[in-house]
Amino acid sequence: MSTVESGPFIAPADAEAFAGRLFEAALGTADLLTVYIGDRLGLYRALNGREPATSSELASRCSINKRYAREWLEQQAVTGILTVDDASAPEEARRYALPEGYALALTDPESPFSMAPLARAFVGCALALPKILDAFRTGGGVSWSEFGADAIEAQGDFNRPWLLSSFGTEYLPLISEVHQRLQSDPPAHVADFACGVGWASIAIASAYPKVIVHGFDLDESSIEMARRNASDRDLGDRTAFEVRDIAKSTLEGGYELVIVIEAIHDLSRPVEALRSIHKVLGPGGCAIVADEKTGDTFAAPGDDFERLFYGFSVLCCLPAGMSEQPSAGTGTVMRADTMRAYAAEAGFSDVEVLDIPHDLLRFYRLTP
Ligand SMILES: C[S@@+](CC[C@H](N)C(=O)[O-])C[C@H]1O[C@@H](n2cnc3c(N)ncnc32)[C@H](O)[C@@H]1O
Repeated sequence: MSTVESGPFIAPADAEAFAGRLFEAALGTADLLTVYIGDRLGLYRALNGREPATSSELASRCSINKRYAREWLEQQAVTGILTVDDASAPEEARRYALPEGYALALTDPESPFSMAPLARAFVGCALALPKILDAFRTGGGVSWSEFGADAIEAQGDFNRPWLLSSFGTEYLPLISEVHQRLQSDPPAHVADFACGVGWASIAIASAYPKVIVHGFDLDESSIEMARRNASDRDLGDRTAFEVRDIAKSTLEGGYELVIVIEAIHDLSRPVEALRSIHKVLGPGGCAIVADEKTGDTFAAPGDDFERLFYGFSVLCCLPAGMSEQPSAGTGTVMRADTMRAYAAEAGFSDVEVLDIPHDLLRFYRLTP
């Protein structure tokens, strides 16, 4: 998937078409930033499944200023996200509605169409831009915690739909030895390395009623959120979350399964983290690593996924990985060969790419 014919490439001589492309990008940016406003202030949720609202009604439903409510509603209708009953009515009388299908993308964090986290992620990156500019100049980085709540929650919510709907119930059952072990006695112990806000741990604990899951992450706010997310789902007794640097090999062993979801490429010291995983795996245990489904080699122009991966790499993952020095400096576009090389250096004898049907992520099984 490294190249597509219909990529964004425009012949360098075609200034008008290129200016048009950037103009479209500006419209897309305005959509994302105003989606962020609707998401963060609860405006979409206040319209979802309810009577269409005038600007005054939306303002009172969400406790926001009427004039701002009107401007946002008009902008959302003009850009084609909301519908308006009668565009020619006086401005205060117009009623706006959120189409049911769009509500899935904008208000349901567990829908496969959920897109509000993408807006939050880009806002998180944009807020960090001054620090990112410094990092470009100095060779330093911006730690994951410094990206703030928008980026941290967005990361969790981005993976949440597939983790909760498919990870424990469809994907892990495809790996028969792992599936059997997670179902059997004595209860299996699973470690979720770089667990973020905990959705992968929660997915496994929900799908396998015996297992005990321990999540570890460097970021304190993520760990607090993970504990809350697990206790909201009554999984507090079989999950535990701890602030811990997974690149430091201080954890004791005995885990039947270690998972690492979309995090190896973010680590400053991925080989050290993989060594810790190797050390904590019990007899017969293995690690399942999910990371970006990149092309095998660099190709330009690239397809839309590779464009998105590089976008996040420049704006978030590389600066996060460079925040501790020395750093492997991996970046989002970690190719399968890099993963194999890291795993071999950490002492794993085998790396298998699993046949798991995910558009954006590739799944590896690492055997000690
Ligand atoms: C892109 S997020 C992935 C989080 C989670 N696995 C998910 O899929 O939502 C990367 C995570 O790696 C964590 N991280 C980075 N370096 C770490 C380290 N040395 N030890 C533990 N966690 C680390 C960050 O705090 C962040 O939560």
